[in-house]
Amino acid sequence: MRTSVAIIGAGPSGLLLGQLLYRHGIDAVIIEHRSAEHVLSRIRAGVLESGTVALLHEAGVGERLARKGLVHHGIKIGDQNTLHRIDLTHYSQGRHVTVYGQTEVTRDLMEARTAWGGMSFYDASDVAIHEPDSASPYVTFVHEGSEVRIDCDYVAGCDGAHGVSRRSIPAERLSVFEHTYPFGWLGVLSETPPIDDELIYARHEQGFALCSMRSMTLSRYYIQAPRDENPEDWSDDRFWSALSARLPESAVRALTTGPSLEKSLAPLRSSVTEPMQYGRLFLVGDAAHIVPPTGAKGLNLAAGDVSVLARVLAGLYHQGRQELLKAYTPTCLERVWKSVRFSWWMTHLLHSFPEEDGFTRRIKATELKYTLDSVAGRTALAENYVGSPLADVT
Ligand code: FAD
Ligand code: DHB
Repeated sequence: MRTSVAIIGAGPSGLLLGQLLYRHGIDAVIIEHRSAEHVLSRIRAGVLESGTVALLHEAGVGERLARKGLVHHGIKIGDQNTLHRIDLTHYSQGRHVTVYGQTEVTRDLMEARTAWGGMSFYDASDVAIHEPDSASPYVTFVHEGSEVRIDCDYVAGCDGAHGVSRRSIPAERLSVFEHTYPFGWLGVLSETPPIDDELIYARHEQGFALCSMRSMTLSRYYIQAPRDENPEDWSDDRFWSALSARLPESAVRALTTGPSLEKSLAPLRSSVTEPMQYGRLFLVGDAAHIVPPTGAKGLNLAAGDVSVLARVLAGLYHQGRQELLKAYTPTCLERVWKSVRFSWWMTHLLHSFPEEDGFTRRIKATELKYTLDSVAGRTALAENYVGSPLADVT
């Protein structure tokens, strides 16, 4: 079998790339090693930057997002027992974010791909990328008991942090910049009305907490927990009381608790792989970089990479612009490092680190106070949180 672009992974990166390439008239095949149901069952990100929303519209999958996405013009920050509001729109020259779950983005993209008959292989095993540094790479895998080989011009590695794409590049050709945090986020999804009409990020000496939502009847809550914690050791009651203890009392009064529909732990880390390409293989989204979720950047960064790669490939196929091949890594990395820095900063500011001494705790409390009290501080937070426009490829 032959295609122009073999896309490894049907997460948001792979599906969105497939959809944009379709709109550019470039054929692509998606190879995913899990089932579509499994991909849809993963509860992950919830906040979309305006650039991501615009890209989803460009991909032709913005209809449900426009109807169901919740536009947020502000966020709240809990600092011990006080609740502050940051007017994102005011401090970012009119921008906002949209709350719409990654599961919904993925579902919209899958449905669109099915509607036009895009070729995808789910439940593929033994996925391998061959000769990515040659002019004729190919991908092999096993599907429904048979060996499949797909010859292609380019391979898009959209297979997340543990996929095969990054491992297919010789280690000596890559630099990996990494940072791990000594905690994770324990997340709960519950069919209850959200505590507030905006997200609450809370700093507390017992640890960070985040109150988010998927709709006005479905809430998503997170609390900082040790990174090796077993979610099964957390009964719903234990979770709700830990969450309540970390939020300002004025907020807790509006908390509706209920049975958890899902409970999972995500360890936090930052990681960037450079360069994001090797020959004709491109690393996209989580395959190239990971951010801690505090700044809500993971999915938005993935969308940024996809936007650049789709434009690079359109330039290559439609205008023969070979020089664009070299543009992918530097164009993506500029935006990536900005978000990596912001996510690292927000994580440090709002979490309690086990090894922290009294001096560091007071410095951080003062930094948060400065951020909240000063126009410059609020502007820096708001500008980074709403995100920068997607990069142009010229
Ligand atoms: P992924 O979503 O990881 O998709 C990769 C796909 O590739 C998967 O479907 C996988 O099954 C498939 N795959 C893997 N290996 C292979 C292989 N060998 N062959 C074929 N297919 C393969 N971001 C936020 O902004 N906020 C959050 O709250 C948040 N929570 C998160 C919680 C967890 C547990 C994780 C892991 C991430 C979270 N993120 C969050 C980050 C965000 O979800 C990711 O940035 C986003 O999913 C990146 O999309 P992606 O398509 O690049 O990678
Ligand atoms: C959500 C996740 C985040 O990491 C974040 O910063 C905000 C919201 C969420 O899952 O809703």
